[in-house]
Amino acid sequence: MTVQTESLVRIEHVVKHFDISGGFLDRIKFSGGLPYLTTTTVKAINGMSLDICRGEILSVVGESGCGKSTLGRTVLGLYPPTSGEIYFQDSRIDNLSQTNMLPFRRKMQMVFQDPYASLNPRMTVRQILEEPTRFHFPELNTMQVRDKVAEVMNQVGVDPAWAGRFPHEFSGGQRQRISIARALMVDPEFIVADEPISALDVSIQAQILNLIMDCQERFGLTYLFITHDLSVVEHISTRVAVMYLGTLCELASKNNLYQEPLHPYSRALLSAIPRLGRSGFEHIRLKGEVPTPTHLPSGCVFHTRCPHTNERCRQEIPALRTQTNGSLVACHGLEEGRIA
Ligand SMILES: Nc1ncnc2c1ncn2[C@@H]1O[C@H](COP(=O)(O)OP(=O)(O)O)[C@@H](O)[C@H]1O
Ligand SMILES: [Mg+2]
Repeated sequence: MTVQTESLVRIEHVVKHFDISGGFLDRIKFSGGLPYLTTTTVKAINGMSLDICRGEILSVVGESGCGKSTLGRTVLGLYPPTSGEIYFQDSRIDNLSQTNMLPFRRKMQMVFQDPYASLNPRMTVRQILEEPTRFHFPELNTMQVRDKVAEVMNQVGVDPAWAGRFPHEFSGGQRQRISIARALMVDPEFIVADEPISALDVSIQAQILNLIMDCQERFGLTYLFITHDLSVVEHISTRVAVMYLGTLCELASKNNLYQEPLHPYSRALLSAIPRLGRSGFEHIRLKGEVPTPTHLPSGCVFHTRCPHTNERCRQEIPALRTQTNGSLVACHGLEEGRIA
C-alpha cells in the first residue's frame, strides 16, 4: 500500500446543520399566552477539519448518529455545507455550480450501506453500470461501453454473463459487488464507503472488505471508510478519525489508535472490543446517553460522559493538538496532564 502525504481531499472548518423546525404550525409555541416561533437545528457536523491523503484508507468511527454519514455526503457535495470549505487537490469544490462540479463528481464516488436500496430495481445490471459511464464518457461508443462493463464486472468478481439480470436476482454480497462496480465504472480517485459491509452476512463481509482493499491497490484509490465496527477498522485503515457528536476527538494512525488511544472517548470505544486471547484494555463503561445533536453540550461535547471532566471541560471547547506519539487529540485533560 503506497500512501503519499499529498492531500487529495481536504475539509476545513466544515459545519453541517439541518433545520428540522417543520412548517409554520409546528413552529408556533406559546409563552404566557403569547405566540412565538421556534427553530430546531440538528448540529450534525460542528467544525471539522481533515486531510485525506492520496492512497490511504481513512476510517471514520463513532457511535450511530455522531454524523459519519453526513460527513461523507458533505465531502462529496451531496449536502451543501452550512459553512466551511472543501477542496479536491487544490480546487475548492463546495461552492461550484452543477456544471463545474461534474468533473469532480466523476472522481469522487460513493458506495452505500444497503445494496438492496442503492441499486435501481427496474434496471438490469448492464443498464446500472452503463448509465454513469455514458454520462461521464460520452466519447465512448456502444461497444467500448459494453467492454468496460464486462471488464469491471470481472474485476469485482461478478460473471459478465449475468449483466442482463436485475438486482433482485443477486445475493447481498453480489449486489454490493455491483455497487462497487458502479463506482469503478467512471475511473474514480476517491470513494466514500458508508458502512459498506454492515448490511451483509458475516460470512460475506470479509470477501467484500478484501475486494475494497484489492481495488485500492489495483486502481490507486483513496477511501473515506465509514464504519461503527472497530474490528473492521483495525483490518483495513491507514489512519482513523474518531468522531463524537459531529466533532473530531482524535485522528491517529491505526497503530497509534490501537496501541495507545489517547482521547477518553477513543479509550472507551477500544476497551469495548472483544479480543480473543489478547489482553485488551480494561473495560471503560461510559455513563449516560449520547446527548441529542439538537442540544449540544457546552465546552467539550464529550464532557457529559467523560470520567475526567472538570470546570474547564464544561466551558471551553478543546482544540486538536499534536501529541508526542503524533496523534491529533482534542482534550483538556490530556493537555493539562490530568489524564495519563
Ligand atoms: N437529512 C437530514 N435531515 C435532518 N437531520 C439529519 C439528516 N441527516 C442526518 N441527520 C441527523 O444528523 C445526525 C447525524 O446523522 P448521521 O450523519 O446519519 O450519523 P451516523 O452516520 O454517524 O449514524 C443525526 O442526529 C441525524 O438524525
Ligand atoms: Mg450513517
